[in-house]
Order: sequence, then structure tokens, then C-alpha cells
Amino acid sequence: MRAASSTAAGLGGAPVPARAEARVGIDAIGVAVPRRYLDLEDLARARGIDPAKYTHGLGALEMAIAEPGEDTVSLAAAAGRRALEIARLDPRDLGLLVVGTETGVDHSKPVASFVHGLLELPRTMRVYDTQHACYGGTAGLMTAVEWIASGAAGGRSALVICADIARYGVATAGEPTQGAGAVAMIVGAEPALLELDIGVAGTCSSHVHDFWRPLGQREAQVDGHYSIECYLDAVATAYRGWKARAAARELVRTGAPAGEQLAAICYHVPFCKMARKAHTRVRRCDLEDSAAPWDASVEELRAATSFQEQVEPSLGLCARIGNVYTGSLYLGLAGLLHARGAELARRRIGLFSYGSGCTSEFFSGVVGARAAERIAAARLDELLAARERISIDEYHRIMALAPGAPLGEPPVPGGFRFTGVEDHRRRYVGA
Ligand code: HMG
Repeated sequence: MRAASSTAAGLGGAPVPARAEARVGIDAIGVAVPRRYLDLEDLARARGIDPAKYTHGLGALEMAIAEPGEDTVSLAAAAGRRALEIARLDPRDLGLLVVGTETGVDHSKPVASFVHGLLELPRTMRVYDTQHACYGGTAGLMTAVEWIASGAAGGRSALVICADIARYGVATAGEPTQGAGAVAMIVGAEPALLELDIGVAGTCSSHVHDFWRPLGQREAQVDGHYSIECYLDAVATAYRGWKARAAARELVRTGAPAGEQLAAICYHVPFCKMARKAHTRVRRCDLEDSAAPWDASVEELRAATSFQEQVEPSLGLCARIGNVYTGSLYLGLAGLLHARGAELARRRIGLFSYGSGCTSEFFSGVVGARAAERIAAARLDELLAARERISIDEYHRIMALAPGAPLGEPPVPGGFRFTGVEDHRRRYVGA
């Protein structure tokens, strides 16, 4: 399998492949979440805030709470194991393992290295982490897709895992937008879930201090309202870049709003309301780019309907797990396919990945004919139903635990847990 070498006139100076012959994308998804969650109404009451601010203002219902034994490695390894089982892939057919994360466990040894060992993957593969805030997983996905499409993979597949623990200070404005989890993706040829439009993406980056986490700090620093502005500014530029390339490749018709030609759009979801804001901005780009006059009140109504049809179906898991940083976009994708996989079969959807700091990418792909069946194997409902709701006191207790102080529980079946540091080495146990 090789990408076509002929090119059409590039936009923004970059040559765009006239026709990509490679069919490459996401073949299977495995998800892992912490075993406990906090109900956002309980958090709001404890903070003396109207619960509607969290449930309607932010669109958040529950958030996953990781205790120290459920670190990034444990979550990543559990999700990776599930994805491999769902794809029924012989690990010997893997040539690349990338973990996108911004909550690594060591300055030098990547999370991917631990996962490689825990899953007993072949020695003959590339293994590394990618980091750029919430974009880190997309960096891994794009590398994997282009590696396979170029032919360099030689028929092998990749395992790309997005794993993070989103942690802000207790009683800060960011507190209701925490979460944790991992989304693992098998990336390969003839994918069952989503075939990516290779070479059709718009990107936007700028050096901003909207969100960051200085070395040695567990909690993120964030300029919350500014971070929303940075995200919206990035989505507009990245979307326009995608739109121009999609039109050049005749994936969308010119003369009609490109966004409306996508059956659905998954956005990076730090909290669900952000996806609504992003979608409004994308629609605004289409309106500004068209010569036709538009009426703001009519647009408000249309935007609400379009949000319900194109975006809301992707938010079910995000509303109940919270921000998973690198994994949030792919949790949205998993949720979308879980809710609408059958009706989206063979239809094109859009995806927007944002990493604070910032870098971002708008891209697209076509949902596979077997997507509904394949995502059902991820058993996402069971995963959520198996969790335990914790009290606010238990939440405070877990937040106060030192990172090296795991609770003495065994891992859940199929899972892993961090058991402590011995001789300066992190130790894990699997079940
Ligand atoms: P805040 O200032 O406490 O909230 O923090 P607010 O006052 O802006 O209110 C939030 C919404 O609730 C508003 O809606 C209010 O109107 C509404 P909006 O005007 O935005 O549509 N509201 C109510 N609704 C119903 N009933 C009520 C009520 N009261 C208010 N009674 C903020 C909000 C998001 C800033 C904060 O939680 C925060 O700092 N979060 C972390 C930062 C973040 O998530 N940024 C998102 C963009 S950056 C990003 O996505 C990257 C990231 O994932 C990191 C990475 O890349 O690694 C974060």
C-alpha cells in the first residue's frame, strides 16, 4: 500500500496529494477509566455553587477520579490491552507504539516504555511518547497514519495511546473540568472505524500561555477564559485550512458551507460546553467566508439544531468522564460511534484536536461500514456502569494522597496498577 505521488496545486505552499490511495486509519479503540467518579452536583453543593453552572453552564455531569495506583501507565496499558484484544491483532504485527501524554511518570523513561513491557510487545518496534498538551495523542496518530501510508511500516500496524490525568487545584475554577482515562487506538490499513483523509488537514499553532504545568507541579496552571479564546482562535484557522484542502481534493463542494457537509464533528472536549462554542465558531467561519448575507437570529436557531445533529452525539462519554486531555477528542469519537456508528457508516466526519500552548489540527475521515459492530466490542456502557460514585469526603481524601502512595487494592480484571517505587524503579502489577 502506497500513497499516490501525483500532486495538485498546494494551498499555503504545501503540496496536496491529488488522490491518496492508501486506506489508513483507526481500526479499533479500547478505553480505560478510573474505577471511581464524582458527581458534579455533589461537587457544586460542596463549593456552594448552583449545580446548574456545572451541568448546564459547563455541560459536565460526572468526572473520573484517579487514585495514585491508577496512574498514566496503568490506564494506558489497560486501554492498550483492550484495543489489541478487540482488533484481534497479533502483537508481532505491530511496528510502532506511541503514547501521547502530558502526565508522564518520569523525565526520561516514557510511559510507552512501561506499556511496552507490561503488554509484552515485540522488541522489534519503535516505542516513544509524544507531548504537546492535549494534542500529544493526535501527534502520535498522525505519525502512525503517515508511517503506514508511506509504506515505511511494511504492512505492520501501530498502537497509539492517549492517556492522562487532568488535575487542577481543589476549589479552583478549573476543578469541575478534571478527569482521567486512556484511549488506545490500533492504527492500520483497511480500518474498521475511521479511514483518515490523508493530507487533508488544517493546522494552527502559536506561543501562548493559556494552560501549562511547570516541572514538579501536579496541578495545571491555567488562564481559563483566555484558554477558551485561544482554542476558538485556533479552531477558526485550522478549520479554514482543512476546508481549503478538502475543497481542493473535492471532498466538499464549494458554494455550500463545508461544515454542514460533514455528518458529524468531534471537537477536543475540556468540558462539553466548549464543543458548542467551537461549533458556533466553525459555523461563523462558513458564514463569513460566503458572500451571502446572513441574519444573526436565524443563525442562532440553525446553530442550535446543527449542534444537536452534528456534535451532541459525541459528548455522552465526555460528560461522564471529564477532560482526559490527549484522550478527550478520541473519547468523543468513541462516544459518537457508540451512539451513531450505524447511521454514520461510509459518511465523512470532522475532528478537531487542540493542545494548549498551543497547537491544533482540524482533519477528517470516513466512518467504516463495520464501525458500529467494532465499537460495540469496547463495551463502553459496561465500563461506566462498573464505576463507583464517591462522596466529596472520599474525593478530598484521594486528592490529598501523595503520588507514591497507592491504595492497597488489586487491579480490576484486565487492568494494571502502580504498586509503588522500589529501588527507584516504578513497579506495576496486572490482573
Ligand atoms: P468559571 O469562570 O468559573 O465559569 O470557569 P464561568 O463564570 O465562565 O461560567 C461557565 C459557564 O457557566 C458560562 O457559560 C456561564 O454563563 C454559565 P458561557 O457564558 O461560557 O456559555 N453559568 C451558568 N449556567 C447555568 N446556571 C448557572 C450558571 N452560572 C454560570 N447558575 C472555566 C470556567 C472553563 C474558565 C474553568 O472551569 C477553567 O479554567 N477550566 C480549565 C481550562 C479549560 O478547560 N479551558 C478550555 C480551553 S483550553 C483546552 O481545551 C486545553 C486543555 O484541555 C489543556 C490541554 O491542552 O492540555 C484545558
